[in-house]
Amino acid sequence: MMAGRKVGIVGAGFVGATAAYSLAMMGTCHEVILYDIVPEVAIGKAIDIGQATSYSPKGTIVTAAEKPSDMKDCDIVVITAGVPRRAEMTRADLLMINAKIITEVVGNIKKYSPNAIILCVSNPLDVMTYAVHKLTNWDRNRIIGMAGALDGARMAYQIHKKVGYGSGQIRAIVIGDHGQDMIPYPEISAVGGVPLNQIIGKTDMDEIIANTKEGGAEIVKYLKTSAYYAPGRSISVMVEAILDDSRIVMPSSVLLDGEYGYKDVTLGVPVVLGSNGVEKIIELDLNDEMKAKIDVSVKSITESIDVLKEKGFFKT
Ligand code: NAI
Ligand code: 2OP
Repeated sequence: MMAGRKVGIVGAGFVGATAAYSLAMMGTCHEVILYDIVPEVAIGKAIDIGQATSYSPKGTIVTAAEKPSDMKDCDIVVITAGVPRRAEMTRADLLMINAKIITEVVGNIKKYSPNAIILCVSNPLDVMTYAVHKLTNWDRNRIIGMAGALDGARMAYQIHKKVGYGSGQIRAIVIGDHGQDMIPYPEISAVGGVPLNQIIGKTDMDEIIANTKEGGAEIVKYLKTSAYYAPGRSISVMVEAILDDSRIVMPSSVLLDGEYGYKDVTLGVPVVLGSNGVEKIIELDLNDEMKAKIDVSVKSITESIDVLKEKGFFKT
């Protein structure tokens, strides 16, 4: 990792700005630079967050890039540019609009931060992460989709609501796609190390799974826009792991090349995060039921990837 610990965030909307705030408040990096297609948004938020750093544990320089070339030589670039999901939209509805935005954004990252690790956040997440792979053609360890960190946090929240204890001690794993077919995985989730299935029964478990899957939509229902505090913190946790080379295990959307029996598709699976981005993809030993669920997830992602392929999106 280059000296300086510089993180670029493309898209200074709710999620991008909250990620920047979280990074600045945790003192994770030396410099955060925000870029938005609407420069005033990035400039105004960078000033505001920069002023908040007076009271953060470590100084962080927060600036705005007024044009793409101002965001250069970043160690990590987080992509949150796009259109958020509204109540009446599915994630797939966002496909075409956001794919075009990603193409432009990735072009600039390749030009101005050619050694960066890219953390993709824009939806539909797995498909946009796939698009980043295709548009960069970089080594696959350098491109990571953020979803499992958020969905796992949502599942942990639901578990705590149900059992009423173990705050901060809950480890919940969600794999698969970041959509309707995501796979909360209670069998390998635990409260303070105690396997979840030893402390709650099937009915409660089913409710936790359903509520986790609805976690994003529930917030959209109230706010009329999608979530940003938990997504922002989930981004900053992943950035921390990469900059600190801390090698934490975090389900993330990565390009598979034979793992789990799939190739040329991005999917949320547990990975080790470190200074090279994805240090290792962990292959879980899945039973037939889980394999079938993974297959459904892969199919839903592949369907969207195929739409982009049919529209000639990946021709350069
Ligand atoms: P937002 O609308 O608040 O922010 C998006 C920002 O991107 C806007 O400020 C917009 O001006 C900017 N933008 C649009 N085109 C751009 C371009 N070409 N270059 C630079 N900036 C551009 O949306 P929000 O809520 O911040 O969500 C951002 C994205 O993150 C959405 O796609 C949303 O669905 C996704 N998301 C993903 C999550 C995940 O778990 N992976 C969680 C939450 C949101
Ligand atoms: C979420 O899960 C919309 O992906 C976003 O909140």
